[in-house]
Amino acid sequence: MKNRSKETISVHEGTFMDPLTKGVVSPIFPSSSFSYIDVEENQYPRYFNTPNQKAVADKLAKLEQGEACMLFSSGMAAITTVLFSYLKTGDHAIFQNDLYGGTQNAIKNELEKFGIEYSMVNSTDVEDFAKQVRSNTKVIYIETPSNPLLNVVDIRSIADLAKANNLVSVIDNTFASPINQNPISLGLDVVIHSATKYLGGHSDLLCGAAISSEQHIANIHASGISYGGSLNAMTCYLLERSLKTLAIRVEKQNSNAGKIAEYLESHGGVNAVNYPGLASHANHEIAARQMEGFGGMLSFDIDTDLEGCKVFSGALKLIIPAMSLGGVETIVSSPPQTSHAKISKEEREALGISDTLLRLSVGIEHVDDIIEDLDQALSKVKNTISA
Ligand SMILES: Cc1ncc(COP(=O)(O)O)c(C=O)c1O
Repeated sequence: MKNRSKETISVHEGTFMDPLTKGVVSPIFPSSSFSYIDVEENQYPRYFNTPNQKAVADKLAKLEQGEACMLFSSGMAAITTVLFSYLKTGDHAIFQNDLYGGTQNAIKNELEKFGIEYSMVNSTDVEDFAKQVRSNTKVIYIETPSNPLLNVVDIRSIADLAKANNLVSVIDNTFASPINQNPISLGLDVVIHSATKYLGGHSDLLCGAAISSEQHIANIHASGISYGGSLNAMTCYLLERSLKTLAIRVEKQNSNAGKIAEYLESHGGVNAVNYPGLASHANHEIAARQMEGFGGMLSFDIDTDLEGCKVFSGALKLIIPAMSLGGVETIVSSPPQTSHAKISKEEREALGISDTLLRLSVGIEHVDDIIEDLDQALSKVKNTISA
């Protein structure tokens, strides 16, 4: 059957049908040692080629409209392995500057250490990326929507820029998930996910993925087996289980987040709401063109100070102040205290991340319950300010 929908791919693609039991789910193959007699390919977990790795990789490759996929022990393992597969001393890379804090640390600490040059682009305008291309540029890397400001970059234009200059284009597609955005279909080369987030979806796994053409994955694989960041069988099994509900989880999160963004935008105690689905978003039109849904992530700036923000977080009864995102439960986080804690306040402010910015990862609860909780917590902030 051709052109299966994402819901169907999420459930069926890649499942290892056990000929012995004819069970409908992939069994767990915990072996780290496989016989080399009468086999086409030697199997070993660090080679990214065991049955549980393959089951999930096939599903994700299909969901992202790529040809092949590799599963990693974390999103950061995927990011660093991909970067070091393409970059060497003396090369140059171009990065969007509002990337996940951990990615920024990796760029500053690891790339610099190996003498790899880079430019950070403080703009979503493709022209500003184009200005940074040098003769030694090899990679262009974006994250859209970005963390935590939900900035949107035009993926197709970045892909065209990369092709015109013979660069490898890479995107962190974690915030959108493959349900909402498929960058490969827009011409991007390599898609990365922190699978810890929407793909795992239940705040109980740490894993990552890279999806691309057979050719790019062969290149990443050649370095990946040396870096050794592959994913174990148990987590592959749990990830495969989670992926079966990816489409319905994300659709519910999209719908909840859209309503919450509208509620927050109309609230007098909120200065700004960053959500690509709002008409007020600076790049709403680009988002509408390249996204099938606007996602479950948003951020907002409360009209208060750091103390007021703490009052707000402390007053929440349902929403959990916590790290990470993409789970079934609604989570709020303060980027200065979590994802961007390791970069300086000056750098955060230069990126537009104020102390009163809060990021919301919207879950699958009933939207009225989430809004009620936000409402009562915001009313406590108001009381503090007027007191
Ligand atoms: C957008 C994004 N990319 C990558 C990562 C890193 O993923 P992991 O924590 O799975 O290594 C994160 C983690 O929060 C993230 O939010």
